[in-house]
Amino acid sequence: MVLIKPDGVRRRLIGEIISRFEKKGLKIKALKMLWLTREKAEEFYSVHKGKPFFESLIEFMTSGPIIAMVLEGDKAISVVRLMIGPTDGREAPPGTIRGDYALSKSENVVHASDSPESAEREIRVIFSEEEIIDW
Ligand code: CMP
Repeated sequence: MVLIKPDGVRRRLIGEIISRFEKKGLKIKALKMLWLTREKAEEFYSVHKGKPFFESLIEFMTSGPIIAMVLEGDKAISVVRLMIGPTDGREAPPGTIRGDYALSKSENVVHASDSPESAEREIRVIFSEEEIIDW
């Protein structure tokens, strides 16, 4: 599960980011634009509840529309995480999405699931069964 965050959408980076995943060979199994409600954003980021950055994270993630997608491929989770780079855009290497487009730890353009378990949980927050296409 990958999200293009509100900063990525505002900065017109949707095509650029989707294009990188497609060129890598990952298969897009679901894709949509949505504007998260506070409730959905809090559910999506429930593991961070209580952390000092939680409130600003929720405000940011509900500040505009996002793109959500389900990607499939061999070792997709680790491949995608390598492609996006570490959380802090200032430390992300050039060539990664955050390395090329982010200069912040909070406004870092994309989110990607960190394990199959969190991917499954996150997908269930955002997508219904019939929105995921088997092809
Ligand atoms: P993401 O991969 O979406 O997962 C949690 C998000 O919290 C993270 O990217 C950042 O955008 C945001 N965040 C803001 N501050 C911090 C912080 N100090 N540590 C970790 N994540 C942070």
